[in-house]
Amino acid sequence: MRQFGLIGKKLSHSFSKKYFTEKFAREHIADAAFELYELPQAQDFLALVARLPQLRGVTVTIPYKLEVMPLLHHIAATARRIGAVNVIKIGPGGRLSGHNSDYVGFRQSLERFLGGVRPRALVLGTGGASRAVGTALEDLGLPHTYVSREAGQRPGCLTYQGLKQQPLANYPLIINTTPLGTYPNVAECPDLAYEQLGPGHFLYDLVYNPEQTELMRRGAAQGAQVKNGLEMLYLQAEEAWRIWNEAD
Ligand SMILES: NC(=O)c1ccc[n+]([C@@H]2O[C@H](COP(=O)([O-])OP(=O)(O)OC[C@H]3O[C@@H](n4cnc5c(N)ncnc54)[C@H](OP(=O)(O)O)[C@@H]3O)[C@@H](O)[C@H]2O)c1
Repeated sequence: MRQFGLIGKKLSHSFSKKYFTEKFAREHIADAAFELYELPQAQDFLALVARLPQLRGVTVTIPYKLEVMPLLHHIAATARRIGAVNVIKIGPGGRLSGHNSDYVGFRQSLERFLGGVRPRALVLGTGGASRAVGTALEDLGLPHTYVSREAGQRPGCLTYQGLKQQPLANYPLIINTTPLGTYPNVAECPDLAYEQLGPGHFLYDLVYNPEQTELMRRGAAQGAQVKNGLEMLYLQAEEAWRIWNEAD
């Protein structure tokens, strides 16, 4: 049996276990199982690998996407540029390699959404997910500006107040990487001049629960095209599976 899993500090609401368990059943993958591993500290991952010789790969969630990096033997170039790892492959001889499937999931999903349009983008939030998003935008050649609650988080970063000094028409693509609007706080949304949105805007929300966030609802009411983070979530899980099964 090949064992896979998710590591994190608190894992009560995990999408991954349900997703992979259903995938293994649906695709008749009989030699694989998926478990949740709550670890008090990132370093406990090494003891987990030693304890479970059948462990072939894990996904990594908050708060360990950065902290696991020094524990690994190899980090793929894109994950190194992003500065975060959310997939670890355990290869022959216990070789640990780090990857970032959020990047792939977001990039593929965004390309489907835009269908060839190449807009200037705003990235709301400067946390972990924003780094994968920013790197994907860079690789797609899409100019982008970060927006944060605090000045100076990234070079050229705007605050929400600073953003209000210019028209939102300057940014036809707006990507929400903040948790605002996530269940149960479904009435929350980023502080934007929503009345300035129009049919020329694309709003991509990384939040996937609820399926229509307040940001999406307000954007759609103005005629904007909207998309939630569900497709990204599925694509990043499939990318993790591909990495774990890649020949060494
Ligand atoms: N769909 C997917 O596959 C997928 C993948 C990864 C993450 N996500 C989602 O993306 C979201 C962010 O994840 P993350 O790992 O990047 O989290 P994170 O590291 O905590 O970063 C979130 C950022 O959002 C901003 N923020 C936080 N609270 C805020 C508030 N009350 N008001 C305004 N801004 C706020 C902060 O940026 P500033 O301090 O600069 O304002 C923060 O750095 C989560 O909802 C997560 O579920 C989805």
